[in-house]
Amino acid sequence: MAIPIIFLIFFFSFSALPAEAEQALLTPIKKDNSTNLYSISAYLKTPLQHTHLHLDLGASLSWVDCIHHYKSSTYRHVLYNASLCLELDTGIYGNCFKKPGPACFNDSCEFFPENSVTRQVAIGDILLDSLALPTTNGRNPGKLALDSDFVFSCGTAKLLKGLAEGVTGLAALGRFNFSLPAQLSRAFSSPFIFAICLPSSPSGNGVAIFNSAGPYYFLSENGIDLSKSLIYTPLILNPYGGTVITYANRPSDEYFIGVTVIKVNGKSVPLNQTLLTINQQDGFGGTKITTSTPYTVLQTSVFNAVTQAFKKESAALNLTLITPPVKPFSLCYAADKVISTRVGPAVPTIDLVLQSDAVFWRIFGANSMVNVKASNGVDLLCLGFVDGGPNPRTSIVIGGHQIEDNLLQFDLVSKRLGFSSSVLFESTTCSNFNFTTNT
Ligand SMILES: *[C@@H]1O[C@H](CO)[C@@H](O)[C@H](O)[C@H]1NC(C)=O
Ligand SMILES: *[C@@H]1O[C@H](CO)[C@@H](O)[C@H](O)[C@H]1NC(C)=O
Ligand SMILES: *[C@@H]1O[C@H](CO)[C@@H](O)[C@H](O)[C@H]1NC(C)=O
Ligand SMILES: *[C@@H]1O[C@H](CO)[C@@H](O)[C@H](O)[C@H]1NC(C)=O
Ligand SMILES: *[C@@H]1O[C@H](CO)[C@@H](O)[C@H](O)[C@H]1NC(C)=O
Ligand SMILES: *[C@@H]1O[C@H](CO)[C@@H](O)[C@H](O)[C@H]1NC(C)=O
Ligand SMILES: *[C@@H]1O[C@H](CO)[C@@H](O)[C@H](O)[C@H]1NC(C)=O
Repeated sequence: MAIPIIFLIFFFSFSALPAEAEQALLTPIKKDNSTNLYSISAYLKTPLQHTHLHLDLGASLSWVDCIHHYKSSTYRHVLYNASLCLELDTGIYGNCFKKPGPACFNDSCEFFPENSVTRQVAIGDILLDSLALPTTNGRNPGKLALDSDFVFSCGTAKLLKGLAEGVTGLAALGRFNFSLPAQLSRAFSSPFIFAICLPSSPSGNGVAIFNSAGPYYFLSENGIDLSKSLIYTPLILNPYGGTVITYANRPSDEYFIGVTVIKVNGKSVPLNQTLLTINQQDGFGGTKITTSTPYTVLQTSVFNAVTQAFKKESAALNLTLITPPVKPFSLCYAADKVISTRVGPAVPTIDLVLQSDAVFWRIFGANSMVNVKASNGVDLLCLGFVDGGPNPRTSIVIGGHQIEDNLLQFDLVSKRLGFSSSVLFESTTCSNFNFTTNT
């Protein structure tokens, strides 16, 4: 049976601003209601077409399904021996015996695009084409700005499986010279600094701002610049990548931070310190931030220690534990008994303590608890952490729910992460960026 698919394609008859002076850019971030994953939108190809791409914080190179419906007058292939191919260092090239086209070219520089959610891999040609995003002054979107040499890889429709409906590729925001923010920073002679603010619901748009350390204005009573509310912690380099296809001598493209202690309601939880540091021989251990999992995933002993402490502290608050919990969670409470606060349900706080006792990322109820319906229809609030098994590659994987309505700034110039903790405290949300175009 044929499945009708409606494509909403916006063609732009005007030309975008060329890349010249330093320029901040933005894109809205959408949350998908069935997968709980996030996507951004960008204008691709010539004429420019509005395209939704899965947001992948830790991926190296963006990819687009270029086998189906790839119509553009400006796409170019890259030869295996071109300097760009050598810089990408993919180590593979190939010939093609089908009809020449975007996905078929001889002596083509190639890449292994990955879907980090399903961990599926394909092989695809490297392409260059136009990409445009709205400029921004940190308050509103402005005119579109064009990068006519955007480098990405061809993906396939099969590789899109498991991502949100309507996305046709993946936007890679990783710590790599050819990630989307790295390319935008070079194209617009701007610092490699970007910020993301993920929405907590599918009904409002969050925002990503590239090439700028701020301001990042959000609507609140008087309007607030969230770049002023950031706390910083070093970004740590993991010498080994966790991708399916690994590249020799290339560190991980993911963003690691140095969690040293976890506190529940201000009390330290006993943890195996070896698990919290990255093993320099194999890259195991440590803490990373990802948009590939909807909830934070903890190594079993970390998970048990945190959930036990949370259970104890919630009992002291007289929260009613409901058993059995709803999978994949392991602690669920009757929602009607929990008091609501500005930063979500009043539950014990969870602190990720970083380089010193004074630097911690506090997780409040809005980010720790997930609304779930029990099979009998009762509303529950479940602790949104899941057990990652005894031997995962990374011990603490901070997932989407825990970073929604938090502003995160990835500063690859100073190699640090700026985080705001819950912006609900500032009487705003990530869906409060003013997307009215400033003309
Ligand atoms: C998700 O959103 C779409 C469009 O906004 C809507 O048609 C669909 O019913 C929603 N699905 C769920 C599971 O809420
Ligand atoms: C790349 O290889 C092609 C033949 O496949 C050759 O014609 C061309 O000169 C080479 N370019 C470089 C930069 O080596
Ligand atoms: C690639 O080269 C082979 C052999 O020379 C040829 O048969 C094929 O048609 C070429 N493919 C493309 C896409 O040009
Ligand atoms: C990334 O790009 C910069 C500037 O072009 C260059 O100096 C650096 O060596 C590159 N790094 C890698 C790993 O290719
Ligand atoms: C701590 O974790 C490391 C790495 O998994 C493991 O080798 C070690 O046995 C653990 N120590 C304890 C006391 O469980
Ligand atoms: C919890 O319940 C006990 C007994 O009903 C009561 O004494 C205590 O004050 C309650 N604690 C809180 C934090 O509500
Ligand atoms: C959003 O921005 C537009 C354009 O600058 C402005 O006219 C409007 O007042 C702003 N909206 C709010 C709610 O501040």
